[in-house]
Amino acid sequence: MKPVLSVIGTGYLGTTFAACMSSLGFTVIGIDTDAEKVRRISAGDLPFYEPGLQEIVITEIATGRLIFTTDFSLGKDADVHFICVGTPQKEGEFAADLTYVYGAVAQIVPFLKSGSLVVGKSTVPVGTAQALRAQLAVSAPHVDIAWNPEFTREGFAVEDSLRPDRIVVGVTNDRAEEILREVYAPLLEIGTPWIRADLPTSELVKVAANSFLATKISFINAMAEVCEAAGADVTVLAKSIGYDARIGNKFLQAGIGFGGGCLPKDIRAFMARAEELGAKQAVEFLREIDAINLRARQRVIDVVREMLSEDLAQFKIAVLGAAFKPESDDVRDSPSLDIAAQLHAAGALVTVHDPKAIANAKRRFPALQFADSVTECVADADLVLHLTEWREYRELNPADLAALVNSPRIIDGRNVLDRDKWKSAGWKFHALGRTDS
Ligand code: UGA
Repeated sequence: MKPVLSVIGTGYLGTTFAACMSSLGFTVIGIDTDAEKVRRISAGDLPFYEPGLQEIVITEIATGRLIFTTDFSLGKDADVHFICVGTPQKEGEFAADLTYVYGAVAQIVPFLKSGSLVVGKSTVPVGTAQALRAQLAVSAPHVDIAWNPEFTREGFAVEDSLRPDRIVVGVTNDRAEEILREVYAPLLEIGTPWIRADLPTSELVKVAANSFLATKISFINAMAEVCEAAGADVTVLAKSIGYDARIGNKFLQAGIGFGGGCLPKDIRAFMARAEELGAKQAVEFLREIDAINLRARQRVIDVVREMLSEDLAQFKIAVLGAAFKPESDDVRDSPSLDIAAQLHAAGALVTVHDPKAIANAKRRFPALQFADSVTECVADADLVLHLTEWREYRELNPADLAALVNSPRIIDGRNVLDRDKWKSAGWKFHALGRTDS
């Protein structure tokens, strides 16, 4: 008999995990305190966009294996409880807010059956699992705890869940590992590497991975700054160093930098936790990684002023992209939306387009103008900013667009547009980390 699973927290991570585990044949109870969210997911109308997920949720609910509820007591039948709630940055601090993690565990405790396993998936500061373990030893001594970090990327979450590049489990005994091996048996069968770790290592693996990724992006953005100063081309540089297998060509896309609900807050929480542990200096470099990242946004504002005028009042600026990356409607710490908001605050007339993220962007920055189509967005613009590399923007015809704008000027904040094509259609083209020639 397959273990029955509960998944607590039905955001991007929890909903994807719940639906994918159901598709692998498990009975899964998804639990969240947000009634409206649960209602929408249960109706197959996901409150967020993740390619391919809605279809799986609908199919799996229909099988009867997958349910979503606000009722924690329905978790009583589960053998394994996955904690998938958010750990956002604390207001005004670098540290992570663990309210939801502790809240989720406290709410499920009364319904934990003997021998069940609580498994954390949320990204937490190292030491959290041990603290929860001590707490459970008092409130639920008949259950065990494990940590199992999640490496899925938004936009590829389904694929990453069903074909992960590794599974890391932090456990304190063989039995916990055996239970998790049962849960992940279908993924082990397809050859997914399995790593057993202790609790603190498993927590650290996640923040180390995200810190490394953030470092890679900021490294190439630092090179972009030098390239601009030296009259060199960062795209050629990235391609050239990427052929070295030790460096690799992924995550070397220079541009306006990283955003989203993970990388920015994870490196900050890591700095905060390292300081508590007395290891501040070891990750002090992340402060520079963060600074380089935010500087890339500022660089766009500077280039906008160079291309238009110091005083941006009344200039019409079209912003293509609001999501923090393509194939997502997530605008948390989105570099594109941040730039749009800063330009708006500087007096420019900013209109934003995005294929999926307009509703979220509107909620975040209601004062910005939003357009339903690229054509509407760029109409009469003095400058176009390409800030999230959706496929549809890459496929735009520069000549068609030139006829719509007031002045054909574009900044490619993601270094993916075909510069020659845009220039030969009459556009003044600037890309970060490349000279204009
Ligand atoms: C990130 C990690 O990649 C996942 O492995 C991890 O599971 C997840 O965080 C998490 O902690 O939950 P995600 O936030 O979905 O995933 O986004 P990424 O694909 O990592 O992209 C982050 C940002 O970096 C985006 O704003 C993207 O535009 C930017 N980026 C990425 C670059 O600027 N350049 C690049 O070369 C790559």
